[in-house]
Amino acid sequence: NFFWPRFIIIIIFSGDRSASIEEVKFNEVTVYLVERKMGSSRRSFLTSLARSKGFRVEYALSDEVTHVVAEDNQAGALWAWLRGSGLRDVSRLQVLDISWFTDSMREGRPVTVETRHLTECSPPTAAASVSQYACLRRTTTENHNKIFTDVLEELAENSEFNESKGPCLAFRRAASVLKSLPSAVHCLGAIQGLPCLGEHTKAVMEEILIFGRSFKVEEVQSDERYQALKLFTSVFGVGPKTAEKWYRRGLRSLKEILAEPNIQLNRMQRAGFLYYRDISKAVSKAEAKALRSIIEETAHWIAPDSILALTGGFRSHRGKEYGHDVDFLLTMPEMGKEEGLLLRVIDRLRDQGILLYCEHQGSTVDMSKLPSRRFEAMDHFEKCFLILRLEEGQMERDGGLQKDPGESRGWRAVRVDLVATPVDRYAFALLGWTGSRQFERDLRRFARKERGMCLDNHALYDKTKKLFLPATSEEDIFAHLGLEYVEPWQRNA
Ligand code: CTP
Ligand code: MN
Ligand code: MN
Repeated sequence: NFFWPRFIIIIIFSGDRSASIEEVKFNEVTVYLVERKMGSSRRSFLTSLARSKGFRVEYALSDEVTHVVAEDNQAGALWAWLRGSGLRDVSRLQVLDISWFTDSMREGRPVTVETRHLTECSPPTAAASVSQYACLRRTTTENHNKIFTDVLEELAENSEFNESKGPCLAFRRAASVLKSLPSAVHCLGAIQGLPCLGEHTKAVMEEILIFGRSFKVEEVQSDERYQALKLFTSVFGVGPKTAEKWYRRGLRSLKEILAEPNIQLNRMQRAGFLYYRDISKAVSKAEAKALRSIIEETAHWIAPDSILALTGGFRSHRGKEYGHDVDFLLTMPEMGKEEGLLLRVIDRLRDQGILLYCEHQGSTVDMSKLPSRRFEAMDHFEKCFLILRLEEGQMERDGGLQKDPGESRGWRAVRVDLVATPVDRYAFALLGWTGSRQFERDLRRFARKERGMCLDNHALYDKTKKLFLPATSEEDIFAHLGLEYVEPWQRNA
């Protein structure tokens, strides 16, 4: 009894939601159409259309999707939704306006993404309230715009090598503004009205938004001179001038420099080469803490009432996890008692066998001189630039030494800056040495341009009243400038 089916079951593919039977012609593109505002019937229609032209269109949002197309959606809401969608990496998505889709349908292929294809953005209402001065912004270490700021800082460095001061400062200022924003920039509309973003910066940002990379910075990075100067200036004691000289001589690598008999390295550079591997490695918070204990103990052994403060990026609350060195400020509660203290600290570090290198500069403070107008000018306090030997055994349990894997020696070399000030200059020095550089630069610019005052690491001078304004704390200085106090951890401009 042979049974032939009596019913033929017909399966109807509803077309829209099933996998497409059409051949996929463009493998690098997977489209997702946002139903919101578009509506489901228009979405189905557009899906069929695209599939018939060889596009892969997915109905579900997944990590396969490369191009998200929306109609009449607010970029902000769209991004918020995408970020909450559980995708592995939202930042690699092209989020596009329907115009990209219609252009592509017309051409019968995915067209190159252009600015006009990016989703319409409502300019952030907060833009107008962002100040051109870093001291009127709050900038934590949480940077939502690293993809832009890394590139801009590299371009700034390149301008510096080319001695183009204007562009260098412009790129640094732009990066600093972007660092202060509370969220990531996803379209050019979002930066409308922000200060310090010039044409060059905008062009770079546009490249990054469209292509996910900057061709301009790639060009710079592949430049032989840039590469050489960056490498040479990474050596402690080598500035742009020396680096340029070496480059002009045809030298390209550190090996070549060491092998060149006609090159006279100074003492600092010799130490720079000797400890290159160690001091080009980042210093961790745990290592900074260990060094703080060592130096504090040393200073207290010499003068029990001496006061030591961590400054720079590691200042208790500036919050940086890593730094290129550790900076300290040393003072005595009684004026004048700080004289000679630094030299004795250095001697003691040498006696302990941990002083690998020391360059000491005596004080040249002259209070009859007005605060310096040039930010880059070194201050006149007594100071030393050190390389110290940090032993594994001096680390607390919560962190080991930053070393190469497989490195068997139980110590590393660390760069340390130590500055000594009379107590009446302490607040100014603390403010100046806490940084960041951009924050300090803008604090001085603000003082000069907006308040008619001169600020540097030693003093604050009121040019109208023709008098120095005293301060015993950083809060005093902000108050003199008529500024709201900015915490050290908000100064990562
Ligand atoms: N500074 C200064 N005068 C100098 C050197 C530094 O006033 N001759 C100040 C700078 O304003 C800087 C701060 O000291 O902000 C710390 O300098 P530095 O160690 O170079 O930078 P950090 O912010 O600590 O960053 P890093 O982690 O790279 O050390
Ligand atoms: Mn530092
Ligand atoms: Mn330093």
